[in-house]
Amino acid sequence: MYRFSPKGQSTTWKTDSMHPLVRAITATGAFGASGLAYASLIERNAFVLRRFTMPILPRGADRIRVVQMSDLHLVPRQERKIQWVRRLADFRPDLVINTGDNLAHMEAVPAVARALEPLYGIPGVFALGSNDYYAPRAKSPARYLLPDSRQPMDEDRRLPVGKLIESFTRDAGWLDLNNARGKLSIGGLDLEFVGVDDPHLDRDRYDEVAGPPAGASDLFLGVVHAPYVRVLDAMAADGVDAIIAGHTHGGQLCLPGYGALVTNCDLDRSRAKGLSRWWVGANGIPSAQAPTEAPYLHVSAGLGTSPFAPVRFGCRPEASLITLVPRA
Ligand SMILES: [Fe+2]
Repeated sequence: MYRFSPKGQSTTWKTDSMHPLVRAITATGAFGASGLAYASLIERNAFVLRRFTMPILPRGADRIRVVQMSDLHLVPRQERKIQWVRRLADFRPDLVINTGDNLAHMEAVPAVARALEPLYGIPGVFALGSNDYYAPRAKSPARYLLPDSRQPMDEDRRLPVGKLIESFTRDAGWLDLNNARGKLSIGGLDLEFVGVDDPHLDRDRYDEVAGPPAGASDLFLGVVHAPYVRVLDAMAADGVDAIIAGHTHGGQLCLPGYGALVTNCDLDRSRAKGLSRWWVGANGIPSAQAPTEAPYLHVSAGLGTSPFAPVRFGCRPEASLITLVPRA
């Protein structure tokens, strides 16, 4: 089970004055060609399943097993990744949560469907990311080390997002949570969801879906691709039990003793991946200081990279098996 490390989280966030970009340049020079080869050839393909436990169910309820996959950034030739993702169904999840950035190629929708097909038919939900709408393009790898790497979105790079949504809704039967709410019945419990379209593209319209859960709901979950503070705050204020997100790639490049260099959004680096707690005003504050009722936040480091920055260091590509259990 994940354990918080309040001392480590607070000291690294508050006392480190070196700019992440300076650290990155220093580190890049230090580990050199062999490190880049490791990051691009080995770690980028070293997929791992992370396991977490969230005590958020009503007392006496049976556990619910959730598989979350995020940031596949799939291109059709990535057969190893496709086969690894297909085996996630072996864990027999009760719920699938897809937090977006599935595509990295104009022809990738059939490959995504093939990777996720064993999970189709299992109750699921999804929220889209920028890499479901627009294909990546070449850019300086250094841009990935900036706090916000957004570039103008060209219409000629528009991905077939309609086909992706059709596959997820029609073939998989998953709920579309892009600026939408929805309900599922799982294991005799009534689950309610609220989600937004990608905040990284400013497509989130939380005000259109805001509000507390219905009285009869046993669990209220927020789902979003990019964990921007404005969305996390809004969901927390509405009383979600947990928020599930992706987008950060866990920083994609992480340094020993420092962690993620950036989150590619306004979330603090200590929450770049894994399980934490969130409440209004939580950014930069260790989860150990969370109010008792604060929702859980799980940020997946995701399974992919942009094809134009195909490296991971200190941050293996991952999917998550989140076991929901009754509150203590
Ligand atoms: Fe991504």
